[in-house]
Amino acid sequence: MSTTVRVRVPAKVNLSLRVGPTEASGYHELGTLFQGLSLFDDVIAERAPAGQFSLAFQGEGAGFLPTDDTNLAMRAAKLIARRFDVTDAGVSLLIRKRIPVAGGMAGGSADAAATLRACNELWRVCASDADLSELAASLGADVPFLLVGGTALGTGRGDVIHPVACQGSYYWALALSHSGLSTPEVFAEFDRLDGPRGVVVDEALLAAVAAGDVPAVGRLLRNDLTAAAVALQPCLNDTLAAGRMAGAIGVIVSGSGPTCAFLAETPQAADRIAQSLSRLASVRTVRRADGPVGGAQVVG
Ligand code: C5P
Repeated sequence: MSTTVRVRVPAKVNLSLRVGPTEASGYHELGTLFQGLSLFDDVIAERAPAGQFSLAFQGEGAGFLPTDDTNLAMRAAKLIARRFDVTDAGVSLLIRKRIPVAGGMAGGSADAAATLRACNELWRVCASDADLSELAASLGADVPFLLVGGTALGTGRGDVIHPVACQGSYYWALALSHSGLSTPEVFAEFDRLDGPRGVVVDEALLAAVAAGDVPAVGRLLRNDLTAAAVALQPCLNDTLAAGRMAGAIGVIVSGSGPTCAFLAETPQAADRIAQSLSRLASVRTVRRADGPVGGAQVVG
């Protein structure tokens, strides 16, 4: 029996993020169109003696990310063990991070999704996709999407996933900020500045995605959290303007930010945009990624 399982999981960008009213739970109702991007974290899960759970990081954020029970990946491992009564459950998790931390690309949620898949395989739990999706939703709003990836609508809190038809290749340049943004703080700022909007994702965007009309997708990108993210990190205005100047056909703050995502029609154009953004004072570093890619998958 295999004693190690490796799962690869993508980052996400929201092609549209519509924010509605707040539920009693404090969560906002969302209508969002997710896309999985080829910027991956790897979660390596190794069998450990019963009752022993450990977590370590390499790469982005290693050294300051929590490795105790407050970490969503650790909570994912313990949740699946408990829910499926895995009596001899124990795991040593190593997460190789490339997805920016507190960047609006769902890195923590991605690691939790990957951990669910990895432990499901490692302990031979045989949980169905529906079971995993339900556990994922209880961990966080973005976690269910990271199990499936591709291009999908998210409704409810963003945790009810409906895959959509998507054609074409989407080449992205990503500009990472010097510091992160807290998702709850961005939502709170949204409530203060803007208040609820509708949650309907534009039909024209869905039609453009279905037809693979990438320039139209670029024009129709929309994020209702933009003003809130920019209010908390004003230098994002410089980053967004520079990406437009560099020829991006679509410009958006990713999720709750502060990572900014710039769409291009060719890999070469995306490379050029990334290169020009890398010279900006407001940008810590740049990444290139393509979409759509599938969700958390066992790769070894
Ligand atoms: O689900 P997750 O833990 O990733 O969400 C982090 C925070 O983002 C929530 O505690 C909440 O403040 C905010 N949020 C929200 N509405 C959503 C998703 C997230 O208000 N639909």
